[in-house]
Amino acid sequence: MAELPEIIYAAPVSGSRNTPQSGYDSLADLYDLEYTHVCDVPFWLALAGREGGPVIEWGAGTGRISGPLSRAGFEVTAVELSEAMLERGKQRVPEAVWIPGDMRVAKPGRTFRLAVCAFNSFLCLLTPEDALAFLGNAREHLQPGGLLGIEISAFSPEELAGLPELRHDLTRELPDGGVLERFSVSRYDAATQLLTMRLFYELYGEGGVLREKRAHELEIRVYTRGELELLLRLSGFEVESVYGGFDGEPFDSGSDHLIALARRGEITPAAGSGP
Ligand SMILES: C[S@@+](CC[C@H](N)C(=O)[O-])C[C@H]1O[C@@H](n2cnc3c(N)ncnc32)[C@H](O)[C@@H]1O
Repeated sequence: MAELPEIIYAAPVSGSRNTPQSGYDSLADLYDLEYTHVCDVPFWLALAGREGGPVIEWGAGTGRISGPLSRAGFEVTAVELSEAMLERGKQRVPEAVWIPGDMRVAKPGRTFRLAVCAFNSFLCLLTPEDALAFLGNAREHLQPGGLLGIEISAFSPEELAGLPELRHDLTRELPDGGVLERFSVSRYDAATQLLTMRLFYELYGEGGVLREKRAHELEIRVYTRGELELLLRLSGFEVESVYGGFDGEPFDSGSDHLIALARRGEITPAAGSGP
C-alpha cells in the first residue's frame, strides 16, 4: 500500500481565539456615520413586542438596535466587546444596561425573554467553536422558552468567487458639511470561510478638501444557512423560522440576509455535543 502523504496544515483549521480583539475600536468614531440604516429596526421591535422583555443584545455596537428597543419601553442589556463602541453606546442609549465583554463568555447575571444578535455581530465569531461557545452562552441566558434572533449577511458562492475586487461601498454626507467615502477590497478563503476586508476611508471637509485617509482590516466568517441551523440545534435550540429579509421573505439563493429565530429547547445539550 502506498504511503500516505503527511498532512500539513498551513494554519489551524479551527480553534477558539482566546484573546478576541475587537476590530471595531478604531472604527467606532465612524460607525454611526457609516451605518445609518434603520430597515431592520421594525423587525426587532415587532419581535420584542411579540416575545416580551427583558431583552439582551449580544454584540450591540453603539446601540443602533438597543436604542429603539429601550425607547419602546423594553428593558435592554447590551453586551459589547469593543470599549470604544461601548462608550459611544452608553452615550447614545443611556437607558440600556451596558456590559463590556465577549459574547462567548460574558455573564450578565440574569436571564432574558429575547436575545438579539443583529447586523453581522455573529459573523465576528471566526470559528465554529467560537459560534458554539456564544450559542451555549446565549442559551444559558435565556428563560425557558426564550427566543434568540440572529441576523447575518447572506453571501452567494458567485459573489465570493468574484473576489478580490475593489468596490466603492458608500458615500455619506456628514453633519459638519464634509463627506465620508468608503472603498474596500475583500478576500475570501473558502477553506476557513474567512472573509478579510480591507477598508479604505476618505474624509473630506467642506469644499471637498481631503482631511483624512484611513485603512483598516476587518475579518469575518461566512456562515451558511445549514451550518447556522446545525450550530443552533447542537446548542440546544429549536429553529422556528428562517427568513431572507425583514418582511419575513423566505430565504433563497438570492437573499441578502439570513435571519434565524430559534427557541431555547428544554433539553440541555449533552456534554461534548455543545459548549
Ligand atoms: C457590525 S457591528 C453590529 C453592531 C450592532 N449589532 C448593530 O446592529 O449596529 C458588530 C459588533 O459586534 C461586536 N463584537 C464582535 N465580536 C464580539 C464578541 N466576541 N463579543 C461581543 N461583541 C462583539 C463588535 O465590536 C461590533 O461592535
